[in-house]
Amino acid sequence: MNLEQKASLTSGADFWHTQGIPSADIPSLLVTDGPHGIRKQRDDVDAIGLGQSIPATCFPPAVGLASSWDPDLAYRVGCALGDEARELQVSVLLGPGVNIKRSPLCGRNFEYFSEDPFHAGRLGAAWVQGVQSRGIGTSLKHFAANNQETDRLRVSADVDERTLREIYLPAFEHIVTSAQPATVMCAYNKINGTFASEHHELLTEILRDEWGFEGLVVSDWGAVSDRVKAVAAGVDLEMPPSNTDAEIVDAVRSGDLDEATLDRANTRLLDLIRRTSDGRQADPPIFDRNAHHAVAREAAAASAVLLKNVGSILPLAPGQSIAVIGEFARTPRYQGAGSSQVVPTQLDNALDAITEIAGADHVRFAAGFTIDDAPASARLLTDAVQAATASDVAVLFLGLPAEAESEGFDRTDIDLPVAQRELLDAVQQANPNTVVVLSNGAVVEMSWDTKARALLEGWLLGQGGGHATAELLFGRISPSGKLAETIPLRLQDNPSHLFFPGGEQHVRYGEGVYVGYRYYDTLDHDVAYPFGHGLSYTTFKLGEPIVRKTGPNTVEISLSVTNTGAVRGAEVVQVYVHDEQASVDRPEQELKGFAKVTLDPSADETVTITLDDRSFSYWSQLHHRWVTEPGAVDLRIGVSSRDIRHRARIEIDGDGIPVVLNATSTFGEWLAHPVGSVVLKETGASTQYERMSWEMRKIVEAMPISKLAALGLGMSREHLDALVAGATHEAKR
Ligand code: BGC
Repeated sequence: MNLEQKASLTSGADFWHTQGIPSADIPSLLVTDGPHGIRKQRDDVDAIGLGQSIPATCFPPAVGLASSWDPDLAYRVGCALGDEARELQVSVLLGPGVNIKRSPLCGRNFEYFSEDPFHAGRLGAAWVQGVQSRGIGTSLKHFAANNQETDRLRVSADVDERTLREIYLPAFEHIVTSAQPATVMCAYNKINGTFASEHHELLTEILRDEWGFEGLVVSDWGAVSDRVKAVAAGVDLEMPPSNTDAEIVDAVRSGDLDEATLDRANTRLLDLIRRTSDGRQADPPIFDRNAHHAVAREAAAASAVLLKNVGSILPLAPGQSIAVIGEFARTPRYQGAGSSQVVPTQLDNALDAITEIAGADHVRFAAGFTIDDAPASARLLTDAVQAATASDVAVLFLGLPAEAESEGFDRTDIDLPVAQRELLDAVQQANPNTVVVLSNGAVVEMSWDTKARALLEGWLLGQGGGHATAELLFGRISPSGKLAETIPLRLQDNPSHLFFPGGEQHVRYGEGVYVGYRYYDTLDHDVAYPFGHGLSYTTFKLGEPIVRKTGPNTVEISLSVTNTGAVRGAEVVQVYVHDEQASVDRPEQELKGFAKVTLDPSADETVTITLDDRSFSYWSQLHHRWVTEPGAVDLRIGVSSRDIRHRARIEIDGDGIPVVLNATSTFGEWLAHPVGSVVLKETGASTQYERMSWEMRKIVEAMPISKLAALGLGMSREHLDALVAGATHEAKR
């Protein structure tokens, strides 16, 4: 290939195709959104053409699937997506989105999994493995720190190194290291002042050199602002094309861009073509639309979260008369707006499904409100009250209007529309047996929940959500979803509230690592519903855990889970780690393992959860690496971050990497250090210290050891130099 051809391969051919070079036998690939269904553009519409794609199964968006806490299910959804991509001759599906839900306001939260990186990483990895098992590539996005839509094309996410490593990178890291996604999509935003598309440290040093990423880095659509800088930083493919190939050619000719870098980018594209060639060769049709609809229903049922159920009002009893109220029951909100929008192959609605199960003579419907967020209407309200009054139970379908949340903008509040609140008041007064089912892509404020005897958080459940909801309401399936994000009492409680969404093209991640439950649990702050929470129609007993150390810093936890209730159901065992003593501030507890188990009544099963070295470490900004400190760790085993059933204390050995002492280390740090303390003894410094008064000792402990010399506190410069040399020598031995 000549230089021009090489340059052309680092940019797309059009909005959805990579560049092909027929003379060099290089085919062009088709890529599409993603993530929860295939959005393959029809040929007769414009490039973006939202809402005008070829029908494909709309699975629950990530907000739903994440609440299943079920990596096996995510894998199976991935397989189904992979099959659909094959049939539609799509080589790369642009997902999953694994950005952390930093604020409930982020307009794209419905496309992301969790406020917790461990959780997002586990679900995302399974999804990637599923899609890729079919020979289709994925695109792990949006790398990185793309946690808001406000000013997303310019804003700089100003985030410290530790927070980046502990919160915003681990989901990417886990998916890269365990599932090798075919591509990673760099984000629009800047990170600490540098565009993600120009971030060499992120795209090359961390992603490739540290994590071993072998695939191709593609830009988010339009994320490249400087072609040459982007290729140099590690972007292998710019999408869509900006027609600036000449800049690459010139840069290579002038020596500003190393040709080897360009060659590497080309090789990665060729690898992608090779890697996805199986998928492209499939003979359509290969997917059964009804079978995939069934998977969508199953995933939807596993994704809804039963938040409360006072007096076991749910499941609905046979023969009850039911007022189904709320336009969402008839016109479901099942996915979010923006690039992920899929045209479904079919669409269930809850009203039809409820009517089918209960019988038409047991169901009354009232729309209650319009889906466009219009003010309350007296007529709609009256009809709803009449239906509620005349029925045994009122099932009220509330939620966010489609316009409230979307890619491209953030919300400014987390409230339900006023008309819906008024409807709830009226219905509940007419019939206290009120059950609320929610449809929303991100958290809503829930102070009204006292008016609902049961509350089913349905998120956005994809095309099978209506049927799945009815099955859950009638107890044909027991709810088993768990919150993958905390529902705060008020928006202001959210730790990012003071900083979100920033201004003047900067957003400061001032809350640091205290995102979501890491903040609420550390401050013991009341929340509406905690991370990990979700009820069932049955009950589970978590047996006494057996905790076994399998290595210096690895642990295996086994416990039996028994279904102690009357119906089949599933529970999610969650393991949180609390470091009892750390040399940096750490969140009260962090999720480091979980397992979902489905059991018939009276059945039990032993679950085993393993914790690796990373479960105990923090990112040290001083040493620029993960540090595992020795000492006691409290393992908390439960069914939500606030419902801990067992605790176990273990001692971990630490990583054994000695902390390097120098002249700025304090006398106290020297004393606590295994080598430093010996050296202090040998030089007589500790004897001097022991002779001091207690208050003098406190002062000296906090002093960098160099200051002792400077202040003449019994230590000369020579003495100090000898100490440092001695400690370094000892540490090396
Ligand atoms: C979105 C990506 C999407 C791409 C292609 C961008 O605006 O951020 O998530 O994959 O468009 O539609």
